[in-house]
Amino acid sequence: MNRLNKLVAIALPALLLAGCELGRKEQEQVGPRGTALVLIADPDSKAKVGEIPAPPYELTAEMVAGEKAGTAYENVQVLGDTSVDEFNYLMQAMTTWIAPDGSNIKDAGCTYCHNPENMASDEKYTKVVARKMLLMTRNINANWRPHFANNYGETAGQENAGVTCWTCHRGNPVPVNNWSTAVPDPGNITGNKRGGNTPAASVAYASLNYDPFTDYLAGKDNIRVGGKAFPTAASSAAIQTTEKTYGLMMHMSQGLGVNCTFCHNSNNFAKWDDSRSQRVNAWYGIRMVRDINNNYISALGDVWPANGKGLYGNRRGPHGDPYKVNCATCHQGVNKPLGGVKMLKDYPTLKGNYAAPAPVVATAPAAAPAPASAETAAAPAKPAA
Ligand code: HEC
Ligand code: HEC
Ligand code: HEC
Ligand code: HEC
Repeated sequence: MNRLNKLVAIALPALLLAGCELGRKEQEQVGPRGTALVLIADPDSKAKVGEIPAPPYELTAEMVAGEKAGTAYENVQVLGDTSVDEFNYLMQAMTTWIAPDGSNIKDAGCTYCHNPENMASDEKYTKVVARKMLLMTRNINANWRPHFANNYGETAGQENAGVTCWTCHRGNPVPVNNWSTAVPDPGNITGNKRGGNTPAASVAYASLNYDPFTDYLAGKDNIRVGGKAFPTAASSAAIQTTEKTYGLMMHMSQGLGVNCTFCHNSNNFAKWDDSRSQRVNAWYGIRMVRDINNNYISALGDVWPANGKGLYGNRRGPHGDPYKVNCATCHQGVNKPLGGVKMLKDYPTLKGNYAAPAPVVATAPAAAPAPASAETAAAPAKPAA
């Protein structure tokens, strides 16, 4: 063997092995035996949850019963029903969550949203946004509880995890995981790739359509895969739909740090009866994200500064739409955001009408969750063999 051959003989296996993930793997059987419902995870690559800021101070019953913010202050449109102490408690928490004091953010602290000369003024766009975000967070917690239904047989009647501003923001004015409509491919010699064939982080480098979000997480296109080579007007699942569906599925898996079998039975991906109850959470999650993006973030319209003209820079993507939410915005690589810590219980003012009697949410998917509306038209019929 000459030197070069020797080198290849040593280097090649090493290179091939480099493609494997070494180390211990965790296995968990989550379905009946023989159904391939096994979750395999690498404990070393699990996303880190990070430190969760402690509440500003202890809220006593006396504080909660005190004078209402709606009468004490001039321009309170959302939090009027909270006591002055609860109100200030939340203002402090919001500052830590969005624009923490001591960080290198411009105008960090209360002045990120306020003119200190006039706290009642709405002159900073960030305050206008924050007011909408308060409404949004209350809406998520009050109306999207089926998304938070737990699958682990925890005590019945236990509070849902819910979300606070921290779930998305984590000390940043703009949450780290966001999306906006992607730029179209530049016209080049390979032609328009129609959003595909480009390994993109958004779909876990799968070379699938790299923007499954515009149609699925803002738009209401059907998330379907069908085997039709020649789609007709009646069958919605064209090849593009199929690729986009898989692109979204890659994002959902990566966003939660799980594999497909966390939700599906690989025997039949479409069938609800064989899926895990987590797929129902996900189904509601998709609808919740559309609600967040369309009725809150995009609804703010021109409030979002463009072209670097804002107080704190540009807040829109290349097509002029604001930065929006996907599964990773909250989940950040873990199936339970923040590792399942129930942060909302310390911020009752963000619960919305949470305390009101609400229908009990089933933990197991008896059947497909309401795929009856036009928005979720039934899956296309199986192609003839
Ligand atoms: C992320 C943005 C944001 C930050 C940071 C923030 N606030 Fe506010 N603040 C708001 C919003 C939004 C309102 C209006 C709430 C409503 O309409 O229900 C408000 C209202 C107020 C009001 C009522 C003013 C009036 O007379 O109408 C006071 C007082 C106040 N904030 C104090 C503070 C203090 C003190 C801090 C820092 C510890 C702070 N805020 C940090 C967004 C913020
Ligand atoms: C579901 C995720 C989510 C939650 C929960 C959330 N936000 Fe946001 N927020 C966003 C996204 C995404 C943006 C960025 C939009 C953009 O820049 O186009 C944003 C932007 C903002 C901004 C503008 C910051 C800037 O510099 O432009 C403020 C202020 C804000 N949020 C306050 C809050 C407050 C206060 C809460 C809790 C009451 C909250 N947010 C809860 C997703 C969220
Ligand atoms: C977090 C849960 C979850 C994960 C993980 C997940 N899916 Fe899905 N999947 C869903 C939900 C929910 C739907 C139905 C979406 C709808 O109807 O709005 C769906 C739909 C599908 C469909 C379309 C079925 C039909 O009716 O045509 C296919 C195919 C699919 N997923 C494959 C995958 C693959 C492959 C993976 C792994 C890369 C994956 N999924 C990961 C929840 C999940
Ligand atoms: C606004 C924040 C937020 C967004 C956005 C979000 N989730 Fe969740 N999700 C949560 C919270 C909070 C829980 C409850 C975790 C707990 O019980 O501690 C949860 C739970 C889940 C679960 C159940 C996890 C388990 O271990 O049983 C699934 C599955 C899930 N989400 C899927 C998704 C998918 C798919 C998307 C995107 C389409 C999404 N989520 C978007 C906050 C969010």
